[in-house]
Amino acid sequence: MTEPDVRKGLNGVIADYTGVSKVMPESNSLTYRGYPVQDLVEHCSFEEVVYLLWFGELPTAEQLSEFNARGRSYRSLDAGLIALIHSLPKDCHPMDVLRTAVSYMGTFDPDAFTRDTDHIYSIGHHLLAQLPMVVAMDIRRRAGQDLIAPDKNKGIAENFLSMVFGTDEGSIANNPDDVADFERSLILYAEHSFNASTFSSRVITSTRSDAYSAITGAIGALKGPLHGGANEFVMHTMLEIDDPSKAGEWMTNALDRKERIMGFGHRVYRSGDSRVPSMERSFRALAERHDGDKWVQMYETMQKIMEDRTGIKPNLDFPAGPAYYLMGFPVDFFTPLFVLARISGWTAHIVEQYESNALIRPLSAYNGPEERKVVPIESR
Ligand code: COA
Repeated sequence: MTEPDVRKGLNGVIADYTGVSKVMPESNSLTYRGYPVQDLVEHCSFEEVVYLLWFGELPTAEQLSEFNARGRSYRSLDAGLIALIHSLPKDCHPMDVLRTAVSYMGTFDPDAFTRDTDHIYSIGHHLLAQLPMVVAMDIRRRAGQDLIAPDKNKGIAENFLSMVFGTDEGSIANNPDDVADFERSLILYAEHSFNASTFSSRVITSTRSDAYSAITGAIGALKGPLHGGANEFVMHTMLEIDDPSKAGEWMTNALDRKERIMGFGHRVYRSGDSRVPSMERSFRALAERHDGDKWVQMYETMQKIMEDRTGIKPNLDFPAGPAYYLMGFPVDFFTPLFVLARISGWTAHIVEQYESNALIRPLSAYNGPEERKVVPIESR
């Protein structure tokens, strides 16, 4: 009997077409709807990139202003959701709060099941506007602080930082360079073809389930440390090492023990993640402004040892982890920050899946017991 061609982890399987983004491991590059991500990072706001991902073209000034006005009008949270968030344990993982919030929001949308593209975009747009408020509220309630009201005159990045850190002197929300570096991270995290969370959202969508269910499932997939959760684990590792002069020994020991080092490696990129250079630039700039040389030294040592010992390169989470730390975010909120960006890519893929749907249902090769007879319970 010939062995079936089983691709564990769907490794190397092309599951469908997508026009949203293209990951090119041969040139370590990534485009969103044809535009190189590093150009988008340099020239566009996060909102322009979301518009591009959803509607296929960069917006004109008029289109952008209409898009922004709509998104800003959604910046309010329903009292029931606020009460729900306050009722959740303060020591649960913040990704659980986000997952619960999206699921809860879905119960109030009588049209959730409508397979209408405009309605899916509207769901995405509401979540894009409201999830930053959920995350800001969750950060502040854990610190015993009240939610800061959103400001409808600010863009997504600046408004979010203002809601988390306030606008008093010294807040990073008042520093345009910090805001710009945070916004760059949102653009870099926005989209990445058929990664595990996006693929999860497409699997759920393929059953003709609703977009809230697809996004709730995607949040669950993103939480895992082999996917979005890695940015938190990178920082936990760095905090554990603490002293840059000990980073070399730590890495050598971990690699000797055959441990997986978070923030390194990628299923698709084998010789470097296209998003790392832009994020690394932001990380280094943040470190200069916020006395973070220690983390840069550690970053460099870890990267060098990994490269020398295994040839495995960093992925986006490696510079993003310490960058978010320098911005002042609690470490277990790093993956929720990823959600605030990736909601844009998920929405684009959910629409794409709806528009050319085929139920996603692979085959499996059976390796359990041979067929056998049921013995009644009294004779077992
Ligand atoms: N640290 C140490 N070794 C690693 C590694 C890492 N971060 N990533 C891959 N490897 C090694 C594996 O141990 C394996 O070695 P082996 O063949 O001797 O067993 C080999 O490289 C291939 O790894 P594999 O897990 O089969 O590749 P993959 O394509 O499934 O892995 C990831 C991709 C992302 C799951 C993997 O690189 C990883 O776990 N990285 C850390 C988590 C992370 O940063 N995730 C965010 C991704 S953007």
